[in-house]
Amino acid sequence: MFQLTLCILKPDIVRSPHLFNVREIITLILKRQFIFVKSKRLQLRRERAGEFYREHQEKFFYSRLVHYMSCGPISCHILGRENAIKEWRSMLGPTKVYKTIFEAENTIRGQHGVTDTRNCGHGSDSVETAQREINFFFPEFDIQSLSKYENMLTN
Ligand code: PPS
Repeated sequence: MFQLTLCILKPDIVRSPHLFNVREIITLILKRQFIFVKSKRLQLRRERAGEFYREHQEKFFYSRLVHYMSCGPISCHILGRENAIKEWRSMLGPTKVYKTIFEAENTIRGQHGVTDTRNCGHGSDSVETAQREINFFFPEFDIQSLSKYENMLTN
């Protein structure tokens, strides 16, 4: 099933011009047959980052996560392809970086993740979450136009 998902490249990736960087990740994503539907680079204010991660507000790491995600520019992308949600999360690898040592060394986080906070990227985890997250960063985007992007791949 053709899907859209939200991809965020986190501040470490955006501000590293010489190490693993946005351009390299974009190349990897394109090689996996994703299309970039929309992209923007922005810096979140602390309150906006808090809002984005509000489901984690009771967790011990919430303020660390919010602080990190608002500490520098991030690169946000709407990605499309068959099973985009699962495919992008599988490219990223497990959220908890220590898990990559055993099961996912060759993922983006396995290769370049530093901690559970500085873990390179974010991917939506369900269709409902993807819709909410896409709307959060791209309120101007009409999610109903999904079929237009599906046709770009099949034609
Ligand atoms: S949980 O606890 O399972 O609900 O969390 P998880 O789904 O694995 O991760 C949700 C986001 O929280 C970040 N995270 C952390 N930040 C700081 N410190 C610690 N220990 C930590 N654990 C998880 C993690 O990077 C996830 O961010 P996103 O942007 O969703 O990947």
